[in-house]
Amino acid sequence: MRAVKSILSLLNIVACSFVFDFAFVPYLFQPAHDLAFMRVGALTPQGAKVLVRDPEASSVQLWTTPLAIKDPVSRDAIMDRILHPAETVSSDTQASEGVPWTYALELNFPANQDFVQVAEFTTLEPSTYYAVKGVRRFANATETEINRVVFRTAPVRLTPAQAASSLTSPGVRFQFGTGSCIKPNFPYVPMSTSRLPGLRRLSRHPIEFMLFLGDFIYADVPYFFGPALEDYRRLYRQVYSDPDALPYLQKIPTIHIYDDHEILNDWDRRDAFPMSNALRAYEEYNGWANPDAPGQGKNAGSDAPSASSTSLPVNQRRPTYFDFEYGDVAFFVMDARRYRSHIRQPDSANKTMLGAEQKQYLFDWLRAVNHTHAFKFIASSVPLTKNWVWANGQTDTWAGYLTERSEILRVVATVPNVIFLTGDRHEAIDDRPIDFSTSPVNQFYVPLFDSFNTTTDLDDSIFYRREGNTKFGIFTVDTQSNPDQPTATYQLYTEEGDGQYPIFNFTVYGKKWRKG
Ligand SMILES: *[C@@H]1O[C@H](CO)[C@@H](O)[C@H](O)[C@H]1NC(C)=O
Ligand SMILES: *[C@@H]1O[C@H](CO)[C@@H](O)[C@H](O)[C@H]1NC(C)=O
Ligand SMILES: *[C@@H]1O[C@H](CO)[C@@H](O)[C@H](O)[C@H]1NC(C)=O
Ligand SMILES: *[C@@H]1O[C@H](CO)[C@@H](O)[C@H](O)[C@H]1NC(C)=O
Ligand SMILES: *[C@@H]1O[C@H](CO)[C@@H](O)[C@H](O)[C@H]1NC(C)=O
Repeated sequence: MRAVKSILSLLNIVACSFVFDFAFVPYLFQPAHDLAFMRVGALTPQGAKVLVRDPEASSVQLWTTPLAIKDPVSRDAIMDRILHPAETVSSDTQASEGVPWTYALELNFPANQDFVQVAEFTTLEPSTYYAVKGVRRFANATETEINRVVFRTAPVRLTPAQAASSLTSPGVRFQFGTGSCIKPNFPYVPMSTSRLPGLRRLSRHPIEFMLFLGDFIYADVPYFFGPALEDYRRLYRQVYSDPDALPYLQKIPTIHIYDDHEILNDWDRRDAFPMSNALRAYEEYNGWANPDAPGQGKNAGSDAPSASSTSLPVNQRRPTYFDFEYGDVAFFVMDARRYRSHIRQPDSANKTMLGAEQKQYLFDWLRAVNHTHAFKFIASSVPLTKNWVWANGQTDTWAGYLTERSEILRVVATVPNVIFLTGDRHEAIDDRPIDFSTSPVNQFYVPLFDSFNTTTDLDDSIFYRREGNTKFGIFTVDTQSNPDQPTATYQLYTEEGDGQYPIFNFTVYGKKWRKG
């Protein structure tokens, strides 16, 4: 009896220490205040946005160099060489490495933006690989480097006149990733050394950029430590300081939107507290490096410097949705959180996920890209399909906003080659009108039962996959081989084979999209 009791208390102590290790150690002992890192966000034909955090250096100088990558074979070798130089950096870095680095600009890091700053490169060559290095300068005159990053600038898009007349339009062929949801070391493995294997798996793929559709942090899982700005900032710093994140940050430019866990589960209270704090931390770490929001565009003209640091802080009232293009492929990233009606409001013509302004902007965008872009990808942090039945599946997703969904789908039906990209459900599903819903990149899935209802009087489903604590999708878009029938091939990766081969492929054959 006594032995049983001892074993039980021992088990309890072990269980409690696991809870402590998972839930409280990061909060108490890993605030990651000294995190210094760089990552790439938006890509344009002329440049990129590079986000840098450094709380210790007095300034960081950014230097660039083009990379002579001509084909996929040389890509990895050249990237590895530039990303992993010898540890010591002499003052004459160009000479010692034989790389012609060009000085771009010097950044300072205000404490009131948690030492985060964004540099915008605007005078680079299109479709060209670049490396950027950040040289930290300390008061005692020493210099060291933060991590280096690599990216390829976006291709030029034809003018509408060229697109309409030219039979030999170059088009594009490229890959990008889609997914959502990461929580370090979750599902929990005691004393785990690899806490974000999903990001490591993703980093091995030669994609041009990743669309990260929310739940990048979990403010309320396993425990809500508080609504203060510092509580939100700490969670971003913990993800970005994870060793598994480094190869990902070095190689994969990422465009973000947030979902509910960047604020609180099932968030539907618009700008109510603590949205201001949650949004501020999101903007600093993820939003500021996104493509420009509507109306945010840079003052055109004037002889632009080779790079500039965006003047921050950002006006938080600016729209958080945005659109961008990659060659003749167009993207719209919805904000499905900040402008929505309460999830429990009965569905009606005035229940909205997007809010009136965003919906109008979406419709205007659809009209604008209708005949100028081969594919139109619309990203939503919550699934478009109404088939999810478990927990909040029928309320928090578009299933709870079906009237507005129909209104949007009626307009979408008039536009060729629209594809939805969504996340959130920790499962993967592809249905019609085509919605590729892929998550989690690094989180749990519900192992007990399917939460997706494949009954056919709901939306048709093409493929459903429950298993997988890693899931991400990679699209190969080709508008080049046959401009009248562009293709977008989706491939789903999981931890099977350590994320190296797809477990599901699906090709969308686009229709003729040009006028006439
Ligand atoms: C210079 O300052 C940095 C930051 O405080 C420190 O890490 C480094 O060791 C110092 N170097 C020398 C040579 O004192
Ligand atoms: C939407 O409709 C409901 C029920 O008809 C009504 O109570 C509510 O005030 C309306 N909301 C708006 C924003 O018009
Ligand atoms: C797209 O173009 C087609 C054909 O010109 C037109 O019928 C449709 O209304 C357009 N859709 C939008 C949203 O502008
Ligand atoms: C699935 O959908 C069908 C048709 O709407 C419904 O009858 C059934 O109850 C649903 N299943 C679950 C588990 O909700
Ligand atoms: C998916 O396509 C790849 C080629 O890109 C092929 O090797 C693989 O067998 C396909 N997988 C499935 C499940 O069809």
